[in-house]
Amino acid sequence: MNSKKIISVLLVVALVMSIFALTSCKKEEDVLTVYTNAEFPPFEYLADNKPVGVDMQIAQAIADELGVKLVIKNVKFDTILTSISSGKGDLGIAGITVTPERAESVNFSENYITSTQYMVIKNDSEIKTIEDLAGLKIGVQLGTTGDFIISDEISGTEDEETGEHVKGVLEGTGATVTQYNSAADAAVNMNSGKVDVVVIDKLPAEIVAGQYDNFKAIELVYEDGSKTDESYAVAVAKGNDELLATVNKVIKRLVADGTIDKWVVEHTTKSSNG
Ligand code: ARG
Repeated sequence: MNSKKIISVLLVVALVMSIFALTSCKKEEDVLTVYTNAEFPPFEYLADNKPVGVDMQIAQAIADELGVKLVIKNVKFDTILTSISSGKGDLGIAGITVTPERAESVNFSENYITSTQYMVIKNDSEIKTIEDLAGLKIGVQLGTTGDFIISDEISGTEDEETGEHVKGVLEGTGATVTQYNSAADAAVNMNSGKVDVVVIDKLPAEIVAGQYDNFKAIELVYEDGSKTDESYAVAVAKGNDELLATVNKVIKRLVADGTIDKWVVEHTTKSSNG
């Protein structure tokens, strides 16, 4: 090879290497990957096959704040937190209720909404409290707080300090739980008689009940008047404090100026009609 040839080969090699370097840093810097489960209107649902909703608008606002492109991954709800803690995705935004167990694997942002569990029942049903679910077949979405509450009331729990068994209010009543991939799936099975009731968060319960003439949604309360009490937040990998700070900044702003409330109204209307 003459020296001219060597130089041109070297130039080509340098060019190829710099293109690789450029594209690889672009990939990491310019994208925010958000994991969700678009089966939870008005927070996330599909419109024209695309995840939309309150949470997706929050995701877009965070991406805008960072100046990067938003990529949404629509996956099963019970896989979201592992994808975030393992670093596969940047944020989990899916109406995720903050719980002490979940906070062991991820960090949570400030809360952006509060909710309670609801029961979807038939219009002519006599059910008023969770105790009234004794002996019934209960449908839930797999891995949700509704699933945990019902499963714990059926199986009982263990007292953390004494290790003693704490009896659940549905324990020994013959009540059973069936876990579906979505509340909508559970409702289809309620309509066909496979389950008697569906337990899910308030707004998704009201929206799914509204899709059937003979269904209604009521709050899940205990006989003694107590009820569930949940707050939604964005999940971030532990240690990713810079991203968490940006998320908190955006959430504080959207809560304070009423934008989240506005989006809730807007997407409740849209997802109820669609
Ligand atoms: N808030 C409940 C939970 O954290 C249900 C969330 C379900 N979200 C969804 N996108 N399917 O367990």
